[in-house]
Amino acid sequence: MNVLGIETSCDETSAAVVAGGKKVLSSVVFSQIPLHRPYGGVVPEIASRSHVENLPEVIRQAVEKSGAGWDGIDAIAFTYGPGLASSLLVGISAAKGLAFSLGKPLIAIDHIEAHIYSVFLGEDALLPSEISPFLCLVVSGGHTALVRVEGIGRYKLLGRTADDAAGEAFDKGANLLGLGYPGGPVIDKIAKDGDPSMISFPRGRQKKERNDMPDCDPNLCFSFSGLKTALLYYLKKHPLSKSKSELPSIAASYQEAIVEALTDRAMKALTDERYVACVGGVSLNSRLRQKMKEAVELNGVSLLLAQPAYCADNAAMVAGLAGAGGGLVGSHAFDIDADPSLELCSEKQFAGIIE
Ligand code: KG4
Ligand code: ZN
Repeated sequence: MNVLGIETSCDETSAAVVAGGKKVLSSVVFSQIPLHRPYGGVVPEIASRSHVENLPEVIRQAVEKSGAGWDGIDAIAFTYGPGLASSLLVGISAAKGLAFSLGKPLIAIDHIEAHIYSVFLGEDALLPSEISPFLCLVVSGGHTALVRVEGIGRYKLLGRTADDAAGEAFDKGANLLGLGYPGGPVIDKIAKDGDPSMISFPRGRQKKERNDMPDCDPNLCFSFSGLKTALLYYLKKHPLSKSKSELPSIAASYQEAIVEALTDRAMKALTDERYVACVGGVSLNSRLRQKMKEAVELNGVSLLLAQPAYCADNAAMVAGLAGAGGGLVGSHAFDIDADPSLELCSEKQFAGIIE
């Protein structure tokens, strides 16, 4: 089955065609980063307008590059949450219109579930059934969570962030350091020349039970807002000199605090799993990849990473998951609205499947 996937949850306009949930026939990603850079973050109004402008051409290119043609598309999949409401609506409307006019089945996909599926894209990639249950560290610009994956559509949330996501911590830290947006890639690059032990920033453990996080083990949760404040106070006390020679070590120390918190909690969450997956835009971070690799080796388990093209937001993961049997189908997909704060493990999400 060839699925055309559409992804517009944040600042990437993307469409892709994936065969059988595995083989990526085409993947087109239009990044809006240059549009948002002057504002130091994503501006929702600019994002949705840019999706409206670019999505038709992005879809056209994805279908053309796939070689399947419109006749060779068997279903249309789209992201319905979580994300920016006005951006999600652009992709949802396009997908519903296409499915309706072409008379094809429609599949509604959770963005975080699609990130988790990203490690299974590619003809040589493993199958979910081969490695489940496995542990997944989801690290993106908007989400940070530890999830036990029992199979497609079967997740248990073990821990999550109490405040900022890991990507947000990178972006806010880079902003304080005057490094621009997005912060993750630039901190990653600069930190390579720095000493990660120069400053001991807080590792942000969530110690107490919280009423708003009843399903999570406090020891497996994260908190990154204190880290950002610690950097702010450090810079007040030690203003960056003109030469900025200390910048790489400050960046490396800041990155180390995020990476150690992520790696530490992930290893603490391990029980009987043989695989640990790491997905989302932050999984591109070279230090995180290195630390996770060392940690899994120590624990005798294997690390699963998506191909770099499928780590940050993309529609191939949406089409892939739909082709592998994930998501909501039929009238559930046609009736669905944007769900900006969709929770991965909520019962609502799987209402269609349970029925
Ligand atoms: O998954 P993603 O594309 O979007 C969301 O679903 O949020 O992740 C975007 C995030 C941004 O915060 C960006 O700074 C971060 O991923 N990121 C990185 C790196 N590349 C992207 N963070 C750390 N190191 C990187 N190399
Ligand atoms: Zn994402």
